[in-house]
Amino acid sequence: MTQIDGSLALVTGASSGIGAATAKALAIQGAHVLLLARRESALQDVAAHINAKGGKATAYVVDVTDAGAVVKTAQEITDQHGTPDILINNAGFGKWRFVDEITPGEAADMMACPYFAAFNVTHAFLPAMMERGSGKIVCVNSPLGRFIWPGTTAYTATRWALRGFTYALRADLAGSGVSATHYVAGKVNSPYWQTNTASEERFPLIARLIPTITPDAAARGLLRAVRGDAREVVTPFLLKTVFWQHALVPYVVDRLMRVTGYRRPAMEHRNAYHQEEGHGAE
Ligand SMILES: NC(=O)c1ccc[n+]([C@@H]2O[C@H](COP(=O)([O-])OP(=O)(O)OC[C@H]3O[C@@H](n4cnc5c(N)ncnc54)[C@H](OP(=O)(O)O)[C@@H]3O)[C@@H](O)[C@H]2O)c1
Repeated sequence: MTQIDGSLALVTGASSGIGAATAKALAIQGAHVLLLARRESALQDVAAHINAKGGKATAYVVDVTDAGAVVKTAQEITDQHGTPDILINNAGFGKWRFVDEITPGEAADMMACPYFAAFNVTHAFLPAMMERGSGKIVCVNSPLGRFIWPGTTAYTATRWALRGFTYALRADLAGSGVSATHYVAGKVNSPYWQTNTASEERFPLIARLIPTITPDAAARGLLRAVRGDAREVVTPFLLKTVFWQHALVPYVVDRLMRVTGYRRPAMEHRNAYHQEEGHGAE
């Protein structure tokens, strides 16, 4: 059981959506929150909101895909505040596309964030957490860390990487006093869908039955993941029941996702897309 009150909690991707809501929720529960992201003004807005409500937040502008920059920021944080008790690997983005709709560079960018971002931040703080013998790491993921949906290939690979990383990390840390939890939220109505355009239409019809939640609701689930010691926490409940069904009959659920999923546009539309957007080649 991880105590939030009085803890030092680091949240990546804290400038927006789930990360911002989680940082605010952690601060209300008494944590000093370290906010990491690239956009300084958005980060400062979140920090100002927390500090105005009597909480404590400190912002660090960093691209978490840059391993060297993460090491530098981690040193700064350690010198100024010590080793975090709670790490939330939440920064992420991605486009739902078929392989031939993206470039190799775009695929690498998606692997960089969230997967390498989570690796970099964990790698920077884990030795000190292990030496201290306590700490909680939560990696925030999409249902695509488990399911297969049409037209999301490279994105799905990054999400399976993040789930594999979190599960393996948890196993490696058994008995160390540090633990890792995989947190999965269903669709959240955050600014994510403005950044990652043309992904939303690829939700399989069957997945649309699962209610969309707010960033605050996602943050509440995330705090449950922080406090407890489950390998995985899933929200909302209906999504959790689909996870159970997938565990029992994976081929049936995958097939349902496929037959109710996104269909490729006609070839002439795809060709127009490549010509207009310059996609598919580097
Ligand atoms: N929205 C959903 O339906 C949903 C569902 C399940 C899981 N998730 C996952 O939850 C996480 C957060 O999503 P969200 O919905 O809150 O999206 P969001 O509102 O777009 O927020 C993404 C956050 O990640 C940060 N970020 C992206 N690249 C970064 C980088 N290279 N370095 C540092 N920070 C970076 C962004 O900050 P800057 O731009 O300022 O750097 C932003 O704060 C993502 O991993 C997402 O895949 C989302």
